[in-house]
Amino acid sequence: MDDENPNIATQTSAGGYDTVVPNSGRTVPAPIAMKDVEHVPKSRWNPPVSVPKIKISKVSHVRYQHPASGIEGLIAFLLDFGMEVVKRSEKAIWFGGYGVDQYVYYAEIGEDVHFLGGAWEVESWEDLERASALGNSPILELKNAPGEGHMTTVHDPEGFPVNFVYGVAPRPQPLKTPPEALQVNDEFSKPRKGAFQRFQPGPAAVHKLGHFGLTIHDFELQFRWYTSHFNLVPSDVLYIEDDTGQKSDVAAFLHVDRGKEYVDHHSFFFSVAAKQHVHHSSFEVHDYDSQNMGHYWLKQKGYSPVWGLGRHRLGSQIFDYWWDPNGFMVEHYIDGDLVNEDTPTGRQPAGDESLAVWSEPVPATFLD
Ligand SMILES: [Fe+2]
Repeated sequence: MDDENPNIATQTSAGGYDTVVPNSGRTVPAPIAMKDVEHVPKSRWNPPVSVPKIKISKVSHVRYQHPASGIEGLIAFLLDFGMEVVKRSEKAIWFGGYGVDQYVYYAEIGEDVHFLGGAWEVESWEDLERASALGNSPILELKNAPGEGHMTTVHDPEGFPVNFVYGVAPRPQPLKTPPEALQVNDEFSKPRKGAFQRFQPGPAAVHKLGHFGLTIHDFELQFRWYTSHFNLVPSDVLYIEDDTGQKSDVAAFLHVDRGKEYVDHHSFFFSVAAKQHVHHSSFEVHDYDSQNMGHYWLKQKGYSPVWGLGRHRLGSQIFDYWWDPNGFMVEHYIDGDLVNEDTPTGRQPAGDESLAVWSEPVPATFLD
């Protein structure tokens, strides 16, 4: 066992990680968890480039266009999903969570539904200028946006918009009080003595944007573009194998490379599919009770569930996917893995079993 934390298994712990114990989970160091998985060589995700990479510090928010006819329905849904309206103008609405970001979801009122791209916060003004040069796109002042700042929008090789922001002031204080950490008793450790668990049903308050993802056509083209221009590195890559044993990569979960600093297992993913579109955006909520109360809150309001709750294998998050009323998929998640530059990048076969440890079966249309 780990000296500091008896709950973290090591290779030498009794039974080892290989021991199959039904209905059990263990917290396992990444290199041991990934010991049976093919590792991707560093050169695969760090192709040489002639200019310095554009340095992303984190994912900031997602941007969507919704039709005027669907905007009140969207607001009602996102409030029930656990966001707050930070600001509303004639043309747009900014939704926030209780984290440091001014907003996590930007909804522009337009003609039709449209994904306007994820937004990445860059490290410096020079990084924003390099992003602007990459796309030959102007740097715009975010005059009306909470926290203001500047943004440029470029397009990836398949035409998806990709936004970069700099200078958005962090929120001076949380939009609302973060939920409290509960004392939880298990069968051996019972720190909660003489105190009761009490809950107030309601939406699962959103903390921050965790990740977003795309379905794409050309894996190699997109992989090369995202990993050579930006400090995005895959945590896991999935492949399919043809009859001749030839492996083709079809999906990647990428994190923001911050060196030794631990970051979310993925802030971005893409997966090859028949149709190119935004797959979903995912927002962090507090804990398992909060997520479940949020699930039943949305269900009782009559919204359409997609898949969940369940536990993802890659990234370990407990997930819960929903359709918004205008046809975009959004997710609540908790308990995601953290990685850094020392965490191996895994490569394994794509398939339903790579998606979840436990859940209802994955819906047939989930990967479309
Ligand atoms: Fe997700």
